[in-house]
Amino acid sequence: MDYKKLFPYFTANPNEVYFDSAATVLKPKSVLDAEYNYNVKIAANTHNNLFDNAYLANEMVSTTRKLTAKLIGATRADEIIFTSGTTHSLNQIAFGLKKIFQPGDEIVLTKLEHSSNLLPWMVLAKELNLKLNYFDLEADGSIDLKNIKNFINAKTKLVAFANITNTMGALNLVEKITTTIKTINPQTLVVVDAAQAIIHTKTDVSAWNIDCLAFSAHKMFGPFGLGVMWAKKAVLEIMEPIFYGGGNNSAIEFDKFNLAKIPEKFEAGTLNLSAICGFQAALAFIDEINLQTLIEHGHSLKAYLRQAVKKLDQSKFEFYNLKTDEPIFLFNVKGVNAQDFGAFLNKNYHISVRVGKHCARLGKYVFKAESTIRVSFGIFNTTEDIDKLIEAMQNSDNWLDAIL
Ligand code: ALA
Repeated sequence: MDYKKLFPYFTANPNEVYFDSAATVLKPKSVLDAEYNYNVKIAANTHNNLFDNAYLANEMVSTTRKLTAKLIGATRADEIIFTSGTTHSLNQIAFGLKKIFQPGDEIVLTKLEHSSNLLPWMVLAKELNLKLNYFDLEADGSIDLKNIKNFINAKTKLVAFANITNTMGALNLVEKITTTIKTINPQTLVVVDAAQAIIHTKTDVSAWNIDCLAFSAHKMFGPFGLGVMWAKKAVLEIMEPIFYGGGNNSAIEFDKFNLAKIPEKFEAGTLNLSAICGFQAALAFIDEINLQTLIEHGHSLKAYLRQAVKKLDQSKFEFYNLKTDEPIFLFNVKGVNAQDFGAFLNKNYHISVRVGKHCARLGKYVFKAESTIRVSFGIFNTTEDIDKLIEAMQNSDNWLDAIL
């Protein structure tokens, strides 16, 4: 199957090898059309308006909530909260749960977390006098299951980690990790950042028995500016909103107000409705291609790459995550600045990669590099794309061409 033809991006950029799906996944035509059509044909806001298109708008949001719940294995659609993205979702979780913490309580993270799953907890810890700990990691960057017990105790209120990390592509076994944590302290809340994982592994919040989940539409073929926060109903009931306004209240008097029920409690203001419509099309796209196909495609490209790099002069490169199966490849050319090699790939080979710290600034303590080149695959990538990357890497001595 030629998946590239489903993505108008390649009509506009026919010669490009797009290797930055971990930053944002390209959007298929069906998603772009759905977003456009919403604005053209429905356009209405979701308030208590009685006209036909307002009804359709409400139906569209309600259907998308149900489909989202199905994708992640949630039993209730009203546990799906639409946000602006993973960052908003994680901030809502952290600051919305302020009142559960006492000074001296502990939160456990990993050093491979994206800034969005570090900074809210760091700010909260400073404000409330909490202690932050970081799990031990295996060589591939995943949480070391054997040592979880050393980090969980009666004071551990919350644990937050990525299902798949955005640098090393380490897969954390959420169900096992959660079982271990909750066996030691059943009250510990488990928060999972699924931004990188949502189309690369199966998500099942019910089987996992986690408490909160966050992800973004744009990393799963959907529009920018939309994300999801899921939490167990019991957690949503104790969580406070971080935004207040139209739609998240049911009554207002001069000296008091009542919050709306979930999910509206957390959705003050107008939702990004055209994005939600595009997201519904993205969910249909994932269903049509099949999640298992998406997972296997990513793993097979990584396996192909693992073989292909053997053709290279090994003394010239640092490889940081060849062993993980997830579709992310992190490397450096020895003696060459990552930014310079990224520019070379772009200028000489039309290969688009991300370079730098990838918003995971504690990662340097794990993979021991300040800056790296990150190649990440999507369903539209092929083994020919990888061959082109390998050709570019074989010519790495010419990296100065991009600058001179
Ligand atoms: N979190 C996104 C990335 O890893 C932006 O590139």
